[in-house]
Amino acid sequence: LRVGLLFGGRSGEHEVSISSARAIANALSAEQNSSKYEILPFYIQKDGFWQAGEVAQQVLASGAAIQNPAASPNLWQFPPAAQTVDVWFPILHGPNGEDGTIQGLLSLMQVPFVGSGVLGSATGMDKIGMKVAFAQAGLPQVKYKAVTRAQVWSNPCVFPKLCDEIESDLGYPCFVKPANLGSSVGIAKVRSRQELEAALDNAASYDRRIIIEAGVVAREVECAVLGNDQPQASVIGEITYKSDFYDYETKYTAGLADLFIPAVLPDAIAHQIQDMALQAFAAVDAAGLARVDFFYVESTGEVLINEINTLPGFTATSMYPQLWGYSGVPFPELVDRLIQLALE
Ligand code: ADP
Ligand code: DAL
Ligand code: MG
Repeated sequence: LRVGLLFGGRSGEHEVSISSARAIANALSAEQNSSKYEILPFYIQKDGFWQAGEVAQQVLASGAAIQNPAASPNLWQFPPAAQTVDVWFPILHGPNGEDGTIQGLLSLMQVPFVGSGVLGSATGMDKIGMKVAFAQAGLPQVKYKAVTRAQVWSNPCVFPKLCDEIESDLGYPCFVKPANLGSSVGIAKVRSRQELEAALDNAASYDRRIIIEAGVVAREVECAVLGNDQPQASVIGEITYKSDFYDYETKYTAGLADLFIPAVLPDAIAHQIQDMALQAFAAVDAAGLARVDFFYVESTGEVLINEINTLPGFTATSMYPQLWGYSGVPFPELVDRLIQLALE
């Protein structure tokens, strides 16, 4: 089978996607997979231009992003090799990749692909839509407020009132986030009115939808899900770090965060998290894979859902493949199962 490995992308998580794709290519090249799958790499430059063949190979081999001048002024022109793909493996993170856009394109191509479809991807990407779906499923989460860029930027009379409301409803510290991003890009933890105003302005530069959440003091635990209609949940992993929160640098600099697998938790809490992860997967209509992230407030025993990632990181420091590794599914078998799930 020819597997179209689709990576890079017009996203703030472009570099993370390259790292994830390298790890997946490696697993697809493992002995048990190499006779079954031929990898066709497709690299989407930061400007959206698709590169196949040697250029894509070069990015995969070096791990470094490139920005060649587009060979054609039409960014939507696909490399001819795209027509020979039997199954797509999109490993794009964030906007224009994890949000249903690519999934729509691949659906129109009528070629199977790994992961969630349009609805699951879009709902899982948008932190506001995701929270609405979780609330509907009865999953407990932090208090939040959704605002738009227009409210932040357009009207000088509205903005102070908006900040007053955020302060009185959520208090400090709170987290200001662009609704459609990942890897903590554009997120700020704010402790004062001045920081709140600056963070809202910054988040508005990334996205027209912004979410502000009450900050919780909690352990951060994650659960991996694999499957389609009868998905399975992995063991639980925990992340600890010394930085103020789990920001981009902490996520991707080796040594700044520690992963504990399995997390040391009471059995009942671990089961509750697994149940909630499966409910979250169904709530957004995810398929194939997802990583579901939680806050465990140890002092009260409360488990709050934070988010779902429908194309979680597969980098050397990423939790998803490690959780399955510990749960008895080694990396080469994991990518094989993901492709088989796409073909179901
Ligand atoms: P991303 O999709 O970019 O990973 P998250 O919503 O997971 O964004 O936030 C990134 C990190 O910020 C979390 O892992 C956590 O460390 C911190 N964080 C986010 N929201 C909260 C919150 N409401 N309370 C406490 N910490 C938070
Ligand atoms: N958004 C990154 C890739 C993650 O959740 O792992
Ligand atoms: Mg996160």
